Amino acid sequence: MEAVLTQHLDPAAPLGLEAYRAVGGYRSLAAAFDLKSEAIIKTVEAANLRGRGGAGFPCGLKWRLRGVDAAKPRYLVCNLDESEPGTFKDRHLLYGGPHQIIEAVIVAAYALQAERAFIFVRGEYAKGGNGLKRALKEAEAAGLVGANIGGSGFDLQIDVHLSAGRYICGEETAQINAIEGRRPNPRPKLPRASVKGLWGQPTTTNDVETLVNVPHILLNGADWFRDLGVNGGCGPKLFGVSGKVQHPGLFELPTGTTARELIFDHAGGLAEGRSLLGFLPGGASTSFLLPEHLDVPMDFDPVAKAGSRLGTGGIIVLDDTTCPVAVTLNLMRFFARESCGFCTPCRDGLPYLAQILAAIAAGEGQAQDLALLEELCEKIAPQSFCAFAPGAVMPLTSSLQCFREHYAQHIATGRCPFSKANEGGA
Ligand SMILES: Cc1cc2nc3c(=O)[nH]c(=O)nc-3n(C[C@H](O)[C@H](O)[C@H](O)COP(=O)(O)O)c2cc1C
Ligand code: SF4
Repeated sequence: MEAVLTQHLDPAAPLGLEAYRAVGGYRSLAAAFDLKSEAIIKTVEAANLRGRGGAGFPCGLKWRLRGVDAAKPRYLVCNLDESEPGTFKDRHLLYGGPHQIIEAVIVAAYALQAERAFIFVRGEYAKGGNGLKRALKEAEAAGLVGANIGGSGFDLQIDVHLSAGRYICGEETAQINAIEGRRPNPRPKLPRASVKGLWGQPTTTNDVETLVNVPHILLNGADWFRDLGVNGGCGPKLFGVSGKVQHPGLFELPTGTTARELIFDHAGGLAEGRSLLGFLPGGASTSFLLPEHLDVPMDFDPVAKAGSRLGTGGIIVLDDTTCPVAVTLNLMRFFARESCGFCTPCRDGLPYLAQILAAIAAGEGQAQDLALLEELCEKIAPQSFCAFAPGAVMPLTSSLQCFREHYAQHIATGRCPFSKANEGGA
């Protein structure tokens, strides 16, 4: 598949407005303005564009459910928070080509008839956020953003919001609080943000990778987009591969590409003599998969069927020298630190999980710890206020299942069986 989303990206020298236009940039605006918003939504639905922010919710359906009669003003939020460990795709879009993002936001805002859009950028991506602000100024000066864009009668204000920097700010209702200048706790599920979001008005949130697909769908059609996928997937997907591979990196490939192809053909496979222990398919808050899952197409439904989530498509690889207890502890420490603290099961439960895991990793675990960890995970996930905690316990629950014997060995021998293998940076 030829690159679509990354075709004109260059983090070292992102295209300015004129250069971007010279390669066809902003052409989708005219295509969009020729259509009514219903026709755009229909095309996005027909393309089967699934949200790339983690849950894979169909983008066209989300836009349709917002409703044509939604109150005004309406808002669009482009989510570029990307704080999920093992995930580095949105960053590439930001640093590599800010105008592609602005074009996508204009088209999506037009489809939703939203008069104001926010691009919420991870705090650590400040340099990229400032580049985006500069690109936005160029677009405004050229009449591509602002009042009566291109004589279409459509008005749009875009603001770039740099996050203060917490993982929970990626959750869409916490993000809404952050944009409003409040403490970023998630909001209750009801009323939905699509009805009462920013300042009590209808608000639609999409991941930036989801949105940058839309101009290409409008220009090339829904069938073209569907045909780009393989093994039942639709469209291009940005996959990251990190961990114990020879060439970690970001790869734009058809949705539905197998994990085997990603890890062995594109990321260079494992170091010589090593074998695969397992992998997280979509960032830290997904469940581990095993070598037997290498031929699962990396698409939302097949990965769910295999017992995990495609999540962000950021694959983290463990080989036979990686201690899965240490990896899981590392992730649990991250989640314990990033809990927003609003509800007790998550705020107090995650540090407790990390504490028990730390003891096991240090060879000080007790035989009953594994059952205790499982019981706590079962209780914490459903009793927490938002989707953060269920995601946080996923790697632990699955690690206890997939790598049980490693945990048992730590407890039985009072030491990490990998400590020798890891000496010398192996
Ligand atoms: C704890 C947490 C963190 C999240 N972080 C992000 C994020 O960084 N980027 C993102 O697009 N979605 C993130 N999400 C999902 C968003 O809440 C939302 O579902 C998504 O932005 C919708 O976009 P999509 O439909 O295009 O996938 C997060 C969800 C949770 C629970
Ligand atoms: S589950 Fe965690 S992140 Fe979500 S509201 Fe509760 S404390 Fe905050």
